[in-house]
Amino acid sequence: MTAFANPAKHDSSGKRIIVAIDGPAGAGKSTIARQLARRFGLLNLETGAMYRAFALKALRRDVALDDAAALEQLSTETDIRLEAGEAENRVLLDDEDVTGQIRNPVVTDAASRVSVFPSIRAWMVRLQQQMGADGGVVMEGRDIGTVVFPHAEVKIFLDAAPEVRGMRRFDQMGPAPAVQAEEVIRDLRARDERDRNRADSPLKPSPDAVLLDSTDMTLEQVVKAAEAIVESRLQPAVAR
Ligand code: DC
Repeated sequence: MTAFANPAKHDSSGKRIIVAIDGPAGAGKSTIARQLARRFGLLNLETGAMYRAFALKALRRDVALDDAAALEQLSTETDIRLEAGEAENRVLLDDEDVTGQIRNPVVTDAASRVSVFPSIRAWMVRLQQQMGADGGVVMEGRDIGTVVFPHAEVKIFLDAAPEVRGMRRFDQMGPAPAVQAEEVIRDLRARDERDRNRADSPLKPSPDAVLLDSTDMTLEQVVKAAEAIVESRLQPAVAR
């Protein structure tokens, strides 16, 4: 991990803050987290990348994605680390940089499948809690405000209508996407279903999270709103 010697903002008690951003796929969490990290001097940690890296390993090893015992065994032989960077996280799977291999549709689907198992989640949550232990982080995922850091100083639940999220994903695919927009929206809905309805730590807003629905907002507006939410939790006198 990168050292946490960053000039992160503090809350009124002087503690370096934790900002938790949760929400469904394609809501803009990564973009907002990156902007907040830059603005407030926080490390940006994308927990979805950790589930993706583990899913990649399961796929490579031909471990069935519904075999809880085999996945748990695999997790005991796996080392996953995130390194915060300016643009995105570097993801190390057993010391191999897999950052460029975890965003394709097969790994995306597999990540959602392996993340339903309690033993896998408990392992990931432990790692994430270690990474954020000293504060000074913005961590994004599905269960950060509910499970990983229930006492985070700032919690934002970022949402948007499924069609809007799907179209944003589609538009990011460049000029000649290999799939139709409808397919992107359908896959996103299926993943949402699974992430929201799993028994362990389903995607849902923490009761004390600020809900931010970006359906009718521009990116700039969402960033501004998120910054205002963080500002409201900071005490200028001690913030550096
Ligand atoms: O945020 P993402 O699309 O990279 O996440 C990939 C999958 O990982 C997502 O479908 C569900 C799972 N995930 C999770 O269960 N908990 C998290 N904190 C982050 C991701």
